[in-house]
Amino acid sequence: MKILVLPGDGIGPEVCHEAVHTLKALAQARGLSIEFQEDLAGGAAIDAYNDPMPDEVIEKAKAADGILLGAVGGHKWDHLAGAMRPESGLLKIRKELGVFANLRPVAVSAALADASPLRPEAIAGTDMLVVRELTGGIYFGEPRGRSGEPGNEEAFSTMRYSTGEIERVARVAFEWARRRGGRVCSVDKANVLVVSQLWRDVVTQLQAREYSDVELSHMYVDNAAMQLVVRPSQFDVILTGNLFGDILSDAAATLGGSLGLLPSASVGGKVGLFEPVHGSAPDIAGQGIANPVAMLLSAAMMMDELDKPIIATAIRAGVETALNEGLRTADLHREGTTTKVGTAEMAARIRAAALDSLN
Ligand code: IPM
Ligand code: MN
Repeated sequence: MKILVLPGDGIGPEVCHEAVHTLKALAQARGLSIEFQEDLAGGAAIDAYNDPMPDEVIEKAKAADGILLGAVGGHKWDHLAGAMRPESGLLKIRKELGVFANLRPVAVSAALADASPLRPEAIAGTDMLVVRELTGGIYFGEPRGRSGEPGNEEAFSTMRYSTGEIERVARVAFEWARRRGGRVCSVDKANVLVVSQLWRDVVTQLQAREYSDVELSHMYVDNAAMQLVVRPSQFDVILTGNLFGDILSDAAATLGGSLGLLPSASVGGKVGLFEPVHGSAPDIAGQGIANPVAMLLSAAMMMDELDKPIIATAIRAGVETALNEGLRTADLHREGTTTKVGTAEMAARIRAAALDSLN
């Protein structure tokens, strides 16, 4: 099994290091051989290659079985524009790999119920999967542009979806619903946007044609944002476009108490891309205090995708044990009730507990 590791920027390298260490330990315990390759992405690649995602890195990615990505971006590169931004590198690799479905599972573990910004009774039972379209919509739509003189400029982006793009990601959502609670809530802005009207029609027709066993509902994105913080437990699978999914998944992620917990898997192409939802967090980079859980859970999603569910389950069990024992990184620590640990210590406990769970 060949894994390409793209640590990226900020806290990316710190959390990636722990994920690789953990995968190595678990693979060895299971007699599985994983070959890790590493390369640069985002700001680190701009510094070294003057390109946030060089074609050589894309080629290596396409030749791998899975890709672990930390995070990209940081203040150092904030002045750059367009294709030279670290974020453009991330968008490029998603597009090149054709990973059109981004899966972001949000479950609030009992150990963390009191870390949620919501009251415990409001958060109880929350267990949802956000399926976000990832290679289309307004992130990639043409035409786009900016013109005019300073003081009198105009700029535009285009939100565009075709029937095929909507159907393929909707299928992913319906399939997941079958394996979960059997319900899909499709989120759009069909009361205003014509692109959302097509989205709603296509999803409705696909459900009627192929997924009548799955319950489908529709929600406008503004209402969905509110429902996520009022009664998040009502959701099973949320299906939505690229921009709405970006926004809603950050809101959903923080229900669990910290963005540092939310993993993601981007699938649909030949090779999957696995990255935590949190960004590069430049304010805490290099201090050894970042939460490694989202990255470790992303590695678990990768092992599931690569048909190694035993390793995936062990990682999740390790996370559960560490949290149940009261270990917390700074983002989740509460003075007097939990034990504050750094990135390495948190990951080491998760790793040890994961290994124990294998026996
Ligand atoms: C995410 C991030 C990216 C996105 C950025 C860094 C381009 O916010 O993965 O959610 O908007 O998709
Ligand atoms: Mn985002």
